Amino acid sequence: MEIVILDDAEAIGKLAADQVCGLLARKPDAVLGLATGSSPLATYDELARRCAAGEVSFGRARAFTLDEYVGLPEDHPERYRNVIDRELTGRVDLDPSRVAGPDGLAEDVPAACAAYERAIADAGGVDLQILGIGTDGHIGFNEPGSSLASRTRIQTLTRQTRLDNARFFDGDLDAVPTHCLTQGLATIMAARHVVLVATGSGKAQAVHQLAEGPVSAMWPASVLQHHPHVSVLVDEAAAGRLQLAGYYRETYLAKPAWQGL
Ligand code: F6R
Repeated sequence: MEIVILDDAEAIGKLAADQVCGLLARKPDAVLGLATGSSPLATYDELARRCAAGEVSFGRARAFTLDEYVGLPEDHPERYRNVIDRELTGRVDLDPSRVAGPDGLAEDVPAACAAYERAIADAGGVDLQILGIGTDGHIGFNEPGSSLASRTRIQTLTRQTRLDNARFFDGDLDAVPTHCLTQGLATIMAARHVVLVATGSGKAQAVHQLAEGPVSAMWPASVLQHHPHVSVLVDEAAAGRLQLAGYYRETYLAKPAWQGL
């Protein structure tokens, strides 16, 4: 796991966008894993800008989103399928038919989750997964207590996550769904490269546990310590509790340019 401490969200967005663009240059039909929420917005803005400038094409790429609220109507602005269209896929040259997400309106939930796992596998697996992290250490919506071997399934959101996300629902906690479908921790672990982005002091404890705590279902993101290729891009505030922050800074500064992330 590599921790990169950068000045601000814009610098994080640029470095994350570099990873996506580098991948698409090497492999135009790459499979991207996309997170929603506020953390990746700077990355998506940068990718939209580069696509508009003709610097990158998503024309042959495919994308899978991480998670979806259960029960939000198709036209709800906070349905993650609509969020990702608004924030990224609708702003780049990616055909909507090449973007998939878990079906939060499925009547047969286990069948829909199994179908989603199959769709990801049939696409050849995710090449690059963009992740955020919850204040409680969730990735996707794998809340504390999630099996480290979990696959796509229904989850109950913690009160903390619903409080955190109430800002997307006009501050109305009751409007935040109680359930979601989410890729499991094992699903996320199967991605070939994971780029996790986090900003702000609210994420500092989760980032510390992710990188420096014991691997534990109590801090689900800590499972990424077992992944061979994880890049964690954080600002100073999100790095605020890292015990080895000085070492991470030195390592990144001394890194040969050819190495990339
Ligand atoms: C969203 C997702 C979540 C968020 C996390 C952080 O698809 O999977 O894990 O990444 O809740 O959310 P923000 O970025 O809004 O702080």
